[in-house]
Amino acid sequence: MTANGELRSTQWFGATGRTGMAHRSWMRSEGFTPEVFDGRPVIGIATTWSELAPCNVHLQRVAESVKRGVWQAGGFPLEFPAMALGETLLRPTAMLYRNLLAMEAEELMRANPLDGVVLLSGCDKTTPGLLMAAASVDLPALMVTGGPMLNGKYRGTDVGSGTAVWRFEEDLVAGRMTQEECVFAEGCMARSNGHCMTMGTASTMASMAEALGMQLPYSATWPAADSRRYETAQRAGQVIVDLVRQDLRPSAIMTRAAFENAIRVNAAIGGSTNAVIHLLALAGRLGVPLSLDDFDVLARDVPTLVNLQPNGQYLMEDFCYAGGLPAVMRELAEAGLLHAEAITVTGSGIGANVADAPCWNREVIKTMAEPLQPAGTGTAVLRGNLAPGGAVIKQSASSAHLLKHRGRALVFDSPADYYAVSNDPELDVDEDTVLVIRYCGPRGYPGMPEVSNVALPRKLLLRGVRDMVRICDGRMSGTAYGTVVLHVAPEAAAGGPLALVRTGDWITLDVPDRTLTLEVSAEELAERRAAWSLPAPHASRGWTRLYCEHVLQADSGADLDFLVGASGHEVPRESH
Ligand code: FES
Repeated sequence: MTANGELRSTQWFGATGRTGMAHRSWMRSEGFTPEVFDGRPVIGIATTWSELAPCNVHLQRVAESVKRGVWQAGGFPLEFPAMALGETLLRPTAMLYRNLLAMEAEELMRANPLDGVVLLSGCDKTTPGLLMAAASVDLPALMVTGGPMLNGKYRGTDVGSGTAVWRFEEDLVAGRMTQEECVFAEGCMARSNGHCMTMGTASTMASMAEALGMQLPYSATWPAADSRRYETAQRAGQVIVDLVRQDLRPSAIMTRAAFENAIRVNAAIGGSTNAVIHLLALAGRLGVPLSLDDFDVLARDVPTLVNLQPNGQYLMEDFCYAGGLPAVMRELAEAGLLHAEAITVTGSGIGANVADAPCWNREVIKTMAEPLQPAGTGTAVLRGNLAPGGAVIKQSASSAHLLKHRGRALVFDSPADYYAVSNDPELDVDEDTVLVIRYCGPRGYPGMPEVSNVALPRKLLLRGVRDMVRICDGRMSGTAYGTVVLHVAPEAAAGGPLALVRTGDWITLDVPDRTLTLEVSAEELAERRAAWSLPAPHASRGWTRLYCEHVLQADSGADLDFLVGASGHEVPRESH
């Protein structure tokens, strides 16, 4: 809507004279009849479809279902592409481009004659990227994620995409699996359209979108192959037209209460640590005050309820059939851990949306009385002289015996440096060693890739060691597990203390106490700092240069400094 209450698309299609004719005439070349310009809401469908993003490849079909709903409700749907980010293919990491997607989609939404937007995403970064864009434009918006793949099936057992990869690799290294068996398993693991079906980052962010109120109830969990995915998409097309008529915008939905709900839901589902970064960045777009410490404080009284890999046993298809996210949110609501009044795209409060949500399988969705893991075992925020800006650890993916640990550092300046020697039987490492992998942060890699949970040294794997403490300024896939301290801020490439650690230093990790300590005196660290110099820039031009010059640290969501905040959707100047 414009300030005077008329649809903003009317400024384009309702115009008289040469400019109105230009706006309508070229659209008529697509074969639309003149009635579509009669003042009905114009709904953009931002799709991250691409054959280079396998998790999003079915979004064209989802878009068709959205269009049906928009037409049904009296709107005019127009699909447009936004940058697709395929997690498995993009180098050096899809995260380098999340902000570029957000910037591109923001400008497309603002510059075009749209009254509302449906956001189609799936793979990890596409969901936060589109939400960040919508937040900065603040047109009525509704998200439809593409849904998870069907459960992977390998030799009679369910295997989770992503999560199984780590185990298969370890089995290959340890000689328990052959290369031929691995190739066969690849096809069994990802066997349908959809995003990863563990509680990895894609499933987490789809759940975050629903918990924030930006997706319709159950939208996060219907498998991509399920007809209800397409029913939901059609319904979303109807609802977005209503949202435009009510002028219900993201800024009214994604409030501080909605973020608190999302953080608690993330704890209850055992969600990815990546949600921390994406929610911080999203809150920054909306001007919602949110800090790293909120994630620790708000999650401390929330147990893990959802029994999904990598923390648990099941997969997203099972979660869907067990009752999906509404059944989890109902548990939280009944325990007083949900802001029930937080408004959602249904026009109702989230509490009303989930009040009667049934649970059909208590093996998959546990109760507050008998949770999968007790309260306080979710993502913890650590601080100390090694991470003055904070770091996170996913306790539920860690080994209990390592949550209080003291060990000597073995330091590498890149994962590649580590992997060059990780198979060496003479490597000076044992199960008490603390592996430090640095220069993997937003500026360092660049893009803060998911490389922090490096595979264990071969000599330890052969001895049956399954976990050891690792510390990194990068991220970890939501599908992964291990006692890995992540998102260390400031990163090494920004001169954080991580850059000053030397092999042989003692490091103490104390998760119950929320501390991460490098046992080196301040004087010694000052001497080391004086001898340290900034690494050479990664690029002299283009996006990578812009990114490295402006990216914020992990504790601020790794957005670009000049993208924080919103510009709204007013564009006063004509193009002709
Ligand atoms: Fe796309 Fe996992 S690779 S969601």
